Amino acid sequence: MARRKKIYEGKAKILYEGPEPGTIVQYFKDDATAFNAQKKDVIEGKGVLNNRLSEFFMTGLNQIGVPTHFIKRLNMREQLVRQCEIIPLEVIVRNYAAGTMSKRLGIDEGTQLPRPIVEYCYKDDSLGDPLVTEEHIAAFGWASQQDMEDILSLALRVNDFLSGIMMAVGIRLVDFKIEIGRVYDGDFQRLIIADEISPDSCRLWDIETGQKLDKDVFRRDLGSLTDAYTEVARRLGVLPKTSTPITKPTLIN
Ligand code: CDP
Repeated sequence: MARRKKIYEGKAKILYEGPEPGTIVQYFKDDATAFNAQKKDVIEGKGVLNNRLSEFFMTGLNQIGVPTHFIKRLNMREQLVRQCEIIPLEVIVRNYAAGTMSKRLGIDEGTQLPRPIVEYCYKDDSLGDPLVTEEHIAAFGWASQQDMEDILSLALRVNDFLSGIMMAVGIRLVDFKIEIGRVYDGDFQRLIIADEISPDSCRLWDIETGQKLDKDVFRRDLGSLTDAYTEVARRLGVLPKTSTPITKPTLIN
C-alpha cells in the first residue's frame, strides 16, 4: 500500500490524508501526556480503547442528531472522519467542580455545580490553553456570535447525552472537553463535534466509590490507566465481556 501523507501529529493522535477529498484518517497513539506535555508516557492499549470509545460516543451523538466528524472506524487504531476547520477553542463543560476550576475558585473537588458551566480555553499549547471569555472570542474573531450560540447548544446536548449514558453504567460525568469543527455544505456552513470524546478528555468517577476512571489516573499516578479505560469500555458494552486483555499484542494492529 502506498505510504499515506501525514497531515498533523499531535500528542495523542496522528492525522493522515483520507481516501477521498474531505476525509481524514485519525490514528490513536498510545502516548499519554499531562500538564501541557511535561509528564509523558506510553500506555499500551490506550489508543485502541480511545478509538473504540470515541466511535461509541460519536456514533450515539450522530444517531440523536448531534452532528460529529465521525464517519466509520477503519481498524483497531484508526477511524475515518470528516475534514473540518477546527475552531481554536477547547469547550469545557463542568457538572461538578474539579481540576483547574477547583484550584481557581477554591471549590472542593466533587462539589455539584448549580448548573452545568461551559468554559472556553484558547487552543495554544505554548500558552497552556488559557481560559478566555466570549469577549476575547468575539474581538479576535475566533468565532461569531451565531457560532457561539451553536457551540453552547451543542456542548449542552453532548453533556446531557454523555451524562445519561454514563449514569446508566454507574459513572458520574464530572466534566469534559470537546472541540468543534466548521464544515461547508455548498454555501452553508455548520458546526460539528470533532477531535475525540474519550476518558482522555473527560473526568469520570464511579458513582458508588468515587474511583477515578479517566486521565487523572495518569496525571495523579493512581494506578493503571489501561485498567481504568477498559473498565469504562466494558461497562458501556464497547468491549465484549470475554475479550482478550487489550494489552495483548495480537489485538493491536
Ligand atoms: O485537566 P486539567 O485539570 O488540566 O484542566 P481542567 O480545566 O480542569 O479540565 C476540564 C476537563 O477538560 C477535564 O476533563 C480534562 O480532561 C479536559 N481537558 C482536556 O481534555 N484537554 C485540555 N487541554 C484541557 C482539559
